[in-house]
Amino acid sequence: MELRSLGPRGPSVSALALGSTKFGRREGVKYPNDFALPSDGQLADLLALAKAEGVNLVDTAPAYGSSETRIGVLIGADEHWRIATKVGETFVDGCSHFDFSPSAIRTSVERSRRHLRRDVLDIVLLHLSDNDSEILRDGAAVETLLELREKGVITAVGASTKNLAAGLVAVEQCDLVMITLNPADQTQQPVLTTAHDAGKGILIKKPLDSGHHDNIPDALAGLVQEAGVSSVVVGTINPAHLADNCTAVRRALSSE
Ligand SMILES: NC(=O)c1ccc[n+]([C@@H]2O[C@H](COP(=O)([O-])OP(=O)(O)OC[C@H]3O[C@@H](n4cnc5c(N)ncnc54)[C@H](OP(=O)(O)O)[C@@H]3O)[C@@H](O)[C@H]2O)c1
Repeated sequence: MELRSLGPRGPSVSALALGSTKFGRREGVKYPNDFALPSDGQLADLLALAKAEGVNLVDTAPAYGSSETRIGVLIGADEHWRIATKVGETFVDGCSHFDFSPSAIRTSVERSRRHLRRDVLDIVLLHLSDNDSEILRDGAAVETLLELREKGVITAVGASTKNLAAGLVAVEQCDLVMITLNPADQTQQPVLTTAHDAGKGILIKKPLDSGHHDNIPDALAGLVQEAGVSSVVVGTINPAHLADNCTAVRRALSSE
């Protein structure tokens, strides 16, 4: 699968990435149907299929239950994989907790290095809450990540934003930005254009509206063909769906 630039610090990532919320968390999610967490064997097979299809990026977060630790055990040592993780949100006893203080961010990064079994984290994003603009304007959270980048602990720094204003600020401050973009939610579209002009990376989250969108091949084709999109992060624990998504992306790219 085509590899693309993820902003000035890299790394190069596949046009389709694997979202991993369903690897480790069932509570407090917005998917249309309940599901069981995959077994270790099922997850190993899914990741092997993704690798065989040329997918090289998986997106995780401390807030996704056991997702980070499971990914670390299965692919932490495999240099094929680029791993994006986050800081600022944890999910404990069914509730999200947010802490963007420098000390919480440093502690979270250390924990992610242990969980993912990596000395250097490829991509770390602020896992922003509804008051995303305020957190970015305050500056301390991004500065802490940038310090860790300068120390060589993180390769590329980003923010997963919720609102348009925060997305535009994040383009200025970070190497890459993660935005929601799907047929039902186009509010952050201007972030894509701005990031493209600035040479920054863009990851798309919820590209299928968390499973509520039906015309999947067209939605994926539209996104991977948009100028400025580095990688479209589709969450799945179903190997047949993963294979279909890879086919849809490959077809869209070959018809360009
Ligand atoms: N704040 C943040 O930073 C944030 C927020 C949300 C998401 N994310 C990241 O973005 C990723 C993607 O978002 P998301 O998981 O919420 O939603 P999504 O990728 O828009 O949709 C995932 C849903 O679509 C289904 N699906 C995937 N491919 C399919 C296919 N070919 N046919 C039928 N159904 C299909 C999946 O079910 P199956 O498992 O059955 O395939 C799953 O329920 C997440 O996993 C996470 O890594 C980040």
